[in-house]
Amino acid sequence: MHQLSTSILAADFNKLGEQIEEVEKAGCQWLHIDVMDGMFVPSISMGMPVIASIRKKSNLFFDVHLMVEKPERYVEEFARCGADMITVHVEACNHLDRTIELIHDSGAKAGVALNPATSLTTLDHVLDKVDMVLLMTVNPGFGGQKYIASCTPKIRELRKRIKDLGREIDIEVDGGVNDATIETVLEAGANIIVAGSAVFKGDIAKNIHMFQEQFSKY
Ligand code: DX5
Ligand code: ZN
Repeated sequence: MHQLSTSILAADFNKLGEQIEEVEKAGCQWLHIDVMDGMFVPSISMGMPVIASIRKKSNLFFDVHLMVEKPERYVEEFARCGADMITVHVEACNHLDRTIELIHDSGAKAGVALNPATSLTTLDHVLDKVDMVLLMTVNPGFGGQKYIASCTPKIRELRKRIKDLGREIDIEVDGGVNDATIETVLEAGANIIVAGSAVFKGDIAKNIHMFQEQFSKY
């Protein structure tokens, strides 16, 4: 099952509520929420108050991407604010297995994220416990960057490992996905597609339909 997860990092925060409604009306079901702490990544974005506020009016699936050092400190609070999926970076966790357990205990689905330079072997002992793997296809920290082409074989390799494992695990790709790169990531085996700039630049509904049309081919 393919899903577009629209990243609100590229939204106009002056009319965030309206834009989320527009995304929902266009048929997108997932909302990607990028939380940055200024330590794990250079920038600072948004946190609990924003999520709690938009939760009141939206029924979308909240896909919360924590680009945060020691994310276990905040897992329960993000779940309480309305996160449906909580994704932590393997590079930011000292006790990844315990953090995955904590996410599940808090009632959310658990995702793990890998930076472009991080090997798939870091997943060896946790893959059977996660609901989703997020592969960064840019270096995290900013929207609007260019897709790193050397990440494509990594998507393909992960899809193979998941198939061999025999469990249904989503592969999410994040960074630089647009009309020029979408076919590459779908062909490689990604099924959850994050897009920020490619949704919010121009006509939101039209952009979302472009992604949906691509999904229908797979
Ligand atoms: C980058 C974030 C991404 C970002 C993607 O650190 O994790 O989710 O919003 O933005 P685009 O789609 O513009 O590359
Ligand atoms: Zn993200």
